[in-house]
Amino acid sequence: MGNNEREQTLVLIKPDALKNSLTGYVLSQLSEFHTGLRFAAAKIVHVNRLLAAEHYAEHREKAFYGSLLEYIMGESHYPDEPHKRRVIALVYQGPDAVQKVRDIVGPTNPHVARERKPGSIRALGTIVPIKDAAGNVIGERMDNLIHASATPAEAEREIKLWFTPNDMPPCMRIYPTAECDALYYYKAGRLYTSYVAGGVCLLAPGDLAWTSDLEALRRLQAGEPAACTLETVAAKYLINEDRLED
Ligand code: RTP
Ligand code: MG
Repeated sequence: MGNNEREQTLVLIKPDALKNSLTGYVLSQLSEFHTGLRFAAAKIVHVNRLLAAEHYAEHREKAFYGSLLEYIMGESHYPDEPHKRRVIALVYQGPDAVQKVRDIVGPTNPHVARERKPGSIRALGTIVPIKDAAGNVIGERMDNLIHASATPAEAEREIKLWFTPNDMPPCMRIYPTAECDALYYYKAGRLYTSYVAGGVCLLAPGDLAWTSDLEALRRLQAGEPAACTLETVAAKYLINEDRLED
């Protein structure tokens, strides 16, 4: 068995793909028959601002950042139908999972995809102008139907952001897990180690978690520098949580 036999990658079927009824097409392009990759996890997510901001943290300073968050949160494609705002999050596993999926997905820009990689998924995407309040075009939004992790390291960060260990069968977990031995509550950007009214329980003693998350929570609670922020850990436990103000 090769080293990367169990490599994983995160795929997001974005709101424009759902709106255009392209889900079946995308799943078919990524099927085990075509890619040799297997499903490791799947979930339907109403993306809140916290998760969107964490997912696209690397683009925080870019001009298109605001419109990118609106896009992944479904606000751009379903402005008047909040109940339809969803993405489908998938983890695929198998040899060269990251590169295989990126090849099928194609270049980021749909115009470039049509020119250089006709037949790729993003060749079916569109480009939408971003306008300021006065109607001047200040940039463009790339509605490119799908997200796919760019590297195995990015895949690990993203899979841990969107999925808990219990979201996938034990045989599909490739990142270290451990049992939580403390109670963690989250409320309005703060971490608590006991019940707090109006808060959301992130983890309780006995829960299984990514080891890296437990380490981060322990450090954050102790006021020590942690490998990631509280928001990074909290975001996945707040997925589809309707007690969270957006
Ligand atoms: P992704 O993360 O979605 O798989 O795409 P990618 O690696 O090919 O591209 P990345 O640079 O990570 O960009 C993430 C998403 O941001 C939007 N984008 N817009 N207007 C622009 O210049 C621009 N550049 C990127 C796209 O929706 C892209 O998928
Ligand atoms: Mg990317």
